Amino acid sequence: MVGTKMLQVLEERNFPVTELIPVASEKSVGKQITFKGKQYKVVSVEDAIKQRPDIAIFSAGGSTSLAQAPLFAAAGTTVIDNSSAWRMDPTKKLVVPEVNAHVLTADDKIIANPNCSTIQLVVALKPLHDKYKIKRVVVSTYQSVTGTGVKAVEQLFNERKGIDGPKAYPYTIDMNAIAQCDVFTDNDYTKEEMKLVNEPKKIMGDDSIRITATAVRVPVVGGPYEIVNVLDKDNLHHIFEKYNPTQVYLLAAILSAVGEQKPKVAWDLNMTGLLHILDFAVEFKVEKVFWPSSIAVFGPHSPQQQTPQYCVMDPNTVYGFSKLAGERWCEYYFTKYGLDVRSLRYPGLIGWRANPGGGTTDYAVHIFHQALKTGKYESFLSADTALPMMYMDDAIRATITLMNAPADEVTIRSAYNLAGISFTPAQLADEIKKHIPGFEITYADNDPRQAIADSWPKSIDDNYAQTDWGWKQEYDLAKMVEDMLVNLKDIV
Ligand SMILES: NC(=O)c1ccc[n+]([C@@H]2O[C@H](COP(=O)([O-])OP(=O)(O)OC[C@H]3O[C@@H](n4cnc5c(N)ncnc54)[C@H](O)[C@@H]3O)[C@@H](O)[C@H]2O)c1
Repeated sequence: MVGTKMLQVLEERNFPVTELIPVASEKSVGKQITFKGKQYKVVSVEDAIKQRPDIAIFSAGGSTSLAQAPLFAAAGTTVIDNSSAWRMDPTKKLVVPEVNAHVLTADDKIIANPNCSTIQLVVALKPLHDKYKIKRVVVSTYQSVTGTGVKAVEQLFNERKGIDGPKAYPYTIDMNAIAQCDVFTDNDYTKEEMKLVNEPKKIMGDDSIRITATAVRVPVVGGPYEIVNVLDKDNLHHIFEKYNPTQVYLLAAILSAVGEQKPKVAWDLNMTGLLHILDFAVEFKVEKVFWPSSIAVFGPHSPQQQTPQYCVMDPNTVYGFSKLAGERWCEYYFTKYGLDVRSLRYPGLIGWRANPGGGTTDYAVHIFHQALKTGKYESFLSADTALPMMYMDDAIRATITLMNAPADEVTIRSAYNLAGISFTPAQLADEIKKHIPGFEITYADNDPRQAIADSWPKSIDDNYAQTDWGWKQEYDLAKMVEDMLVNLKDIV
């Protein structure tokens, strides 16, 4: 994450980079990254050292810095290290350019940069110290769970939903504040607090300043967010201006069943929303846009078994033709404006984290809630209605894989067929019964969603996704049902 941010900042500041050499661990070597619209291949540390770069910016943890930074320095490279490895080493300079860039000489080949809280602190303290000579600083920081990592964010959200999941902290973090960031040191301050005590003294070049620090973990998730109405063009423009996003994922839509109740509203949101994003993506030179299409682009005259990528498409729902028109627009913006827009025809998506959004495949999510709550479910689709479905984990993985694929491997710029698991309500119920033996399913007559389901494919041929960017699904019916029940049992 930090590496990606660094590239983004270098790009924003137009830092004069003659040649970029992205480096990562063996497992990422060969992957592609984009910088200023150009693709670069990730190389190994050894290959990077051989190229003797002028500057190496390190953000790979303390032990990697300790092992690798001296190798680069020996090759004549100036290393700027973001880890804590060298910060308090008396032979290395610890620098915040606005405060003490003057201490650097051409002989400094490994330069440390401090903890993020220290950086902000010293920029404010230095002018005060120069003018008044600071005697004592009492500093408190309140840090989001994001700083601990994904596991901590999950702990917070699990606690909020009452789920007993894996824990990053030994204490409850929701509705709480934990006065511990990182581990305790011998003097009963934490490592994070001691960074705030020691680093400013070194940077300001005065050991006599007395500093005490308290770092508290609070139950908020870091990172900026805004709530945006994709139909509010002016505000959306302002958001693009403010953040200059490099990638946009547009998920806002009205889905099939709800779309039939308010067809014009669905058309407006699904089309106008997409066109706003495509226009601003071109104007603000966004690198990549993701927008999901759906199996709803197919219609009663499309082949229903192993529906191919290219065939008759005559959708008969507003949702379906908004997605089909959207696909054409995506391809048009790619061809006409060179916009790197990518899309997948998601099958019916099944996940436990959120309630379904009003689609025809929603039964396959509701059924789990009802099975756990009451042991019964009335399906609005008939027992033998087969539909293409996919577990959310697979859908997310497919999305990320497509978005990370090198641009020239993405040969379809409308939307890729994507296949997961095809099953009927009866088959799903049988699988649930293996875990909840008394579970009963009944079937409703005359639900309007049946007609929509009957016009859709029963299974999908996703050959292009497999060949172009190596798509392979992981979840079959049994694995998906087990995972859904394990995760939902403490929620419903
Ligand atoms: N769920 C599926 O089975 C499925 C299948 C195929 C494709 N898709 C596509 O995936 C995307 C996400 O679907 P989902 O299941 O999460 O649907 P959802 O209904 O759960 O989410 C849609 C979101 O759009 C937001 N939204 C509505 N109007 C908006 C506006 N004017 N501005 C900004 N946001 C607005 C809603 O608040 C909602 O959070 C959609 O494009 C959908 O067509 C979903």
